[in-house]
Amino acid sequence: MKSFNLAVIAGDGIGPEVVAQGLKVLDVVAAKYQVNFVKKNYELGAAFWHKTKAALPDDVMNDLAKADVILLGAVGDPSVPSGTLERGLLLKLRFGFDHFVNLRPARLFAGVKSAVTNSNNIDFLVVREGTEGLYVGAGQVKDEGSKSELATEESINTYKGVERVIRYAFNKAKVRPRQKLTLVHKNNVLVRAGGLWTRVFNEVAKEFPEVKTDYLHVDAAAMFFVTNPDRFDVVVTDNLFGDILTDIAAAICGGIGLAASANINPTGKFPSMFEPVHGSAPDIAGKNLADPTATILSIAMMLDHLGLVDAARDVETAVAQDLLNRKDSKRGTDEIGAAISNAISKAVA
Ligand code: NAI
Ligand code: MG
Repeated sequence: MKSFNLAVIAGDGIGPEVVAQGLKVLDVVAAKYQVNFVKKNYELGAAFWHKTKAALPDDVMNDLAKADVILLGAVGDPSVPSGTLERGLLLKLRFGFDHFVNLRPARLFAGVKSAVTNSNNIDFLVVREGTEGLYVGAGQVKDEGSKSELATEESINTYKGVERVIRYAFNKAKVRPRQKLTLVHKNNVLVRAGGLWTRVFNEVAKEFPEVKTDYLHVDAAAMFFVTNPDRFDVVVTDNLFGDILTDIAAAICGGIGLAASANINPTGKFPSMFEPVHGSAPDIAGKNLADPTATILSIAMMLDHLGLVDAARDVETAVAQDLLNRKDSKRGTDEIGAAISNAISKAVA
């Protein structure tokens, strides 16, 4: 029997609620496909920070490094200064484990009504760079609190960092039916970073003659995500643009409660991490209102990553069926998780 070490960081707010449903689905899948997941829970997040004033101690990080994969719910809480957990925990994991690929699929499932677009043919993949750009934390503040305050945030882009994520995106585009890759940047204004991204994109493109290429400025891309989402197949972009665009992608595909993501270290040197795109949603926490579907779809991405492809398709099929039947039903977190788990256990492997 195959066995994997799974580190679980349920986190804050709705994190534990959606993770509980995700793990319910994973248990059903594990039994059905004869796979073993050895789970280890990590009590990280707001409560841990209040107790210790540390977001992610190095010894915990070293322990997490031993896992095969990590499942994360969400972190962030109004009682903790903004950025403490987002930078100190989430970004520490993404940067520390060199998750240079942040994969975020945008798929409009049948039966789901898109709030903002008439297109019913949305199925694209955003490959967001995960370890560079504005998120590295470079910059400074001078004269804080005064009228002469100066705040800078520096975007770091290296040839190595840009090349590896672009190459990954080309390889993804190559095996998809439409074989199309769109680079999104703002190379008319951000000429230094944009210049590097564009040059490397054109250079790597020569190795993939079968992949059609395209370029859009980020503002135009934001518009086309809403007006013409069917024009996209694979999109590659930097850390900040990818963060913002994927919330638009979530909105056009039925909402943030359905949006899955994977933080991948393709080299396998460190564990990859799977998490819903959404945050801890303090406004609905503890009310059985959060949709666990994003977490369950993130688990499907995790199964794919582990090579458990049939199990991944099984989870996706159960989610697709659930969304098709959902209509306007007012089910809560637990009910949706149970419906998807039941569908998987009933479906023939
Ligand atoms: P959010 O994603 O937590 O919530 C935005 C809106 O979407 C809220 O109205 C919320 O109720 C709704 N929502 C989110 N997930 C949902 C779900 N599964 N089902 C139904 N509705 C859902 O983003 P927000 O409010 O900007 O951030 C809240 C906290 O989460 C902050 O501390 C933020 O820094 C943190 N955050 C953490 C992330 C992570 O752990 N990966 C990502 C984004 C934000
Ligand atoms: Mg975001």
